[in-house]
Amino acid sequence: MTRNLLICYGTRYGSTAEVAEKMAETAQEIGVTVDLVDLKRNKIPERIQDYDLIVIGSGIMGGRWTKEPLKFIKDNLEVLSKTKIAIFVVCGFAASEDKCETAQVEYLDNFSVEFPGLSPVLTGLFAGVFDFKKYSFPVRALVKRMIKQQIPPEEEFPDKIDYRNWDKIREWMTGLVSA
Ligand SMILES: Cc1cc2nc3c(=O)[nH]c(=O)nc-3n(C[C@H](O)[C@H](O)[C@H](O)COP(=O)(O)O)c2cc1C
Repeated sequence: MTRNLLICYGTRYGSTAEVAEKMAETAQEIGVTVDLVDLKRNKIPERIQDYDLIVIGSGIMGGRWTKEPLKFIKDNLEVLSKTKIAIFVVCGFAASEDKCETAQVEYLDNFSVEFPGLSPVLTGLFAGVFDFKKYSFPVRALVKRMIKQQIPPEEEFPDKIDYRNWDKIREWMTGLVSA
C-alpha cells in the first residue's frame, strides 16, 4: 500500500491536469498523502526520493511527450531508477480502436526503454480531449484533419470532444496505490 505519492505531469491544453487531479483525489480518498505538481508551473519537491511512488504523465503533441516531464525524467533519472514509478499519457490515439496499440507502444512502452534504468510498474493510456476553441487557427485545421475519420461526414464538428473515461482513470489509480 502506498503512503506518499507524487504525481507530476506536463500539459499543453489542460486535459492532463484534470486527469492528474482525478488521480490525486482518488488516491487521497483511500488515505494516501498526495503531492500534485504541474511541472511547468509548480516547484518540484526537493526530496523526491522520499516518495513511495512517483507517477509521471503527459499529454501528447505531435507524437511526443511535453518537454517538462521529459526534463524531469532526465534530471532525476538516478533517483527515478531506484524508486517505484508509473507513467501515463493522455492522448487522441487512445480514443481510436485502431490506434490504441500504436499509442501504447510509441508513447509508453518505447518511451520508457529510451531511459536506461526507468522501469515503470504500470503504464496508463488514457483518451484525452480535443478543445477546438483553445487552438489557434492553424492548429484547429491540423487537428480537424487528424481526426476527421472519427466524425461521421454528415455531422458538424463540435467545439469540444472529451473522450476521458473517469472510471478507467480512477480504477487505474486505485489498483496502483493498493498494490
Ligand atoms: C496540435 C496537437 C497535436 C496532437 N498530436 C497528437 C498525437 O500525435 N497523437 C495523439 O495520440 N494525440 C495527439 N493530440 C491529442 C492530444 O494528445 C489530446 O488533445 C490531449 O488531451 C492533450 O493533452 P493536454 O490537454 O493535457 O495538452 C494532439 C493534439 C493537438 C492539439
